[in-house]
Amino acid sequence: MTTLKTASTDANHYIQLEDKYGAHNYHPLPVVLKRGEGVHVYDVAGKEYYDFLSGYSAVNQGHCHPRILQALIEQSKELTLTSRAFYNNLLGEYAQYITQYFGYDKVLPINTGVEAVETAIKLCRKWAYKVKGISKGQAKIVVCENNFHGRTTGVISFSTDPTASNEYGPYLPGFEVIAYNSVSALQRALEDKNVCAFLFEPIQGEAGVVVPDDGYYTEVRKLCTEKNVLMVADEIQTGLCRTGTPLACDREHVRPDIIILGKALSGGMLPISAVLADDEIMLTIKPGEHGSTYGGNPLACKVAIASLQVLKDEHLAEKAEELGIYFREKINKLNSPHIKTVRGRGLLNAIVIDHAEKDAAWDLCLEMMKNGLLAKPTHGDKIRLAPPLIITKEQIDEAVVIIGKSLSILT
Ligand SMILES: Cc1ncc(COP(=O)(O)O)c(C=O)c1O
Repeated sequence: MTTLKTASTDANHYIQLEDKYGAHNYHPLPVVLKRGEGVHVYDVAGKEYYDFLSGYSAVNQGHCHPRILQALIEQSKELTLTSRAFYNNLLGEYAQYITQYFGYDKVLPINTGVEAVETAIKLCRKWAYKVKGISKGQAKIVVCENNFHGRTTGVISFSTDPTASNEYGPYLPGFEVIAYNSVSALQRALEDKNVCAFLFEPIQGEAGVVVPDDGYYTEVRKLCTEKNVLMVADEIQTGLCRTGTPLACDREHVRPDIIILGKALSGGMLPISAVLADDEIMLTIKPGEHGSTYGGNPLACKVAIASLQVLKDEHLAEKAEELGIYFREKINKLNSPHIKTVRGRGLLNAIVIDHAEKDAAWDLCLEMMKNGLLAKPTHGDKIRLAPPLIITKEQIDEAVVIIGKSLSILT
């Protein structure tokens, strides 16, 4: 019988365990984390790092935020799961809170981000048949090139990234892919009367923080309204103050028909996601037609309320906006020949590395890790830099020094 070594400070021990017994569907940096607090995480040997990934923007409120943690602990002693076979005393309160927070009639609570995307797709299709009057089985959803909406077989069916979709077919039909940030491509696609929705990311995070032109959301809204097509914003990564406004679409005061939220809805405590829409859309799904065992559980409701309250009370949208500008300025001032560009909004940023060596971004991440800052490359030459939104100016100064120093390994 094997004995489990539980308190080793040797990173290799944990890495080997994971490699031996866990599936190899990720390629992590060789760092083993044990604790998190605010903007920092600590490895098994006690070394401190700035977390510039924030659980892919789930930990906007900072690691183990005391108010969210308190909500989690208190509610977990009271009641955690009832299933939706019964009412619970928190779902109604949470539904009222989140719908009033974002200004929609209804919420459909679910767990992971991709489940919320699947939920939105189902809502669009129901609406297409019951409200818009599209013939059964003909509804089409327009999506964008280089999208990332999650990992289910449905969602990867319209991914344009072969790594995400190869050898997972047959694929789900009913999607048309157009260029991101192209109003004319959308206009052409919406000429098709069977189109019921346009699903997009307000900023493409996984693609490397691709920010569309100013005015894009406004034009999308206008076209969708003109053609009676649902505007569906996947704000799973961009939402919840990350890009300097509560939702990324708020920057242009645009109200999508469907909002998809996840990640920071729990501040990193547990998977909580949600779809927001008005009655005309949401009430097309009837009892028994969609759901999930954990969706709307009382623990999630309590944690989500606390997470949303923290965002507001700590003015995290305003902080992200101000510090994002400051951060990009500081990175530009490094004047590194190896940074082709720094781009982003709020505290969702990326640097694009300019270097002949194809592994340069990975090597830079390894060096930053050595120097006490964690970030991960995305799509080869891009490194997303997205710290918790509670970071201070002084901490950004310190982080930029680490990034500057690490860049010196790229000769
Ligand atoms: C824009 C967007 N949509 C959907 C998802 C999927 O979320 P999850 O990994 O929780 O399923 C992600 C995750 O990174 C995302 O960034």
